[in-house]
Amino acid sequence: MTESTTMTNWRSNKPLVAAWDRGVKSWPVAMVYGAVVFGTDNRIMYADMDSLAELPPGTAVLDVPSGGGVLLRALRPGHGLRYVAGDISPLMLARVRAEAARRRLDGVETREVDAGALPFADGEFDVVASYSGLHCVPDPATAVAEMFRVLRPGGGLRGSVVVTGAGRREDAFIRLWQARHILDVVVPPSGVVDWIAGAGFTGVRTRRSGSIVYFRATRPTAG
Ligand SMILES: C[S@@+](CC[C@H](N)C(=O)[O-])C[C@H]1O[C@@H](n2cnc3c(N)ncnc32)[C@H](O)[C@@H]1O
Repeated sequence: MTESTTMTNWRSNKPLVAAWDRGVKSWPVAMVYGAVVFGTDNRIMYADMDSLAELPPGTAVLDVPSGGGVLLRALRPGHGLRYVAGDISPLMLARVRAEAARRRLDGVETREVDAGALPFADGEFDVVASYSGLHCVPDPATAVAEMFRVLRPGGGLRGSVVVTGAGRREDAFIRLWQARHILDVVVPPSGVVDWIAGAGFTGVRTRRSGSIVYFRATRPTAG
């Protein structure tokens, strides 16, 4: 696929990468940014991410797009997971490696990937986590279909995405970030359910906070 301007921006814009990654890893910054820009309570984001700690050792997790590895906050040394961080941006992946070293985590792999064409085998993962990322890719439905493909039957998808319709201020920020090639495709909550159910997932559950929708779904064991 031809790389979109938004993908190129995330791949190579060092100030953007640093600002996002520092901000999302800072509780006070994330709380204020979330409330002002997206009308959301980012305590929900951290709680949702932290639930990864409940996964049993041996679970294979793909985090895509991983950004700088904010999800590593859920892991402890000796966690026993296979954790693969996939992102289009080598700058972000360098941050994942630094974060893993800082937290003394092993079992952390990094891969430069396009979410729309994942370089993994069918059914390779038990869990795919995708926080704050589907709104950055040019074809989210294809990205979700790829997440479905690399999950084993019975495996779970979880994550979050920006949606339209929370309010005038929130929608104005979405348009601003789209104009600056930070966000790409943003749809209303029903559109997110369409992407996920359209890929073949079942048991789709969503929870909305401002202009963020959290989702969970399962790849059915048959089909
Ligand atoms: C807003 S950040 C969120 C990252 C991370 N999940 C987090 O919560 O901090 C969006 C990420 O999407 C990545 N990205 C953009 N387009 C992508 C694509 N087509 N494939 C993989 N990653 C992509 C960017 O490099 C960036 O790290």
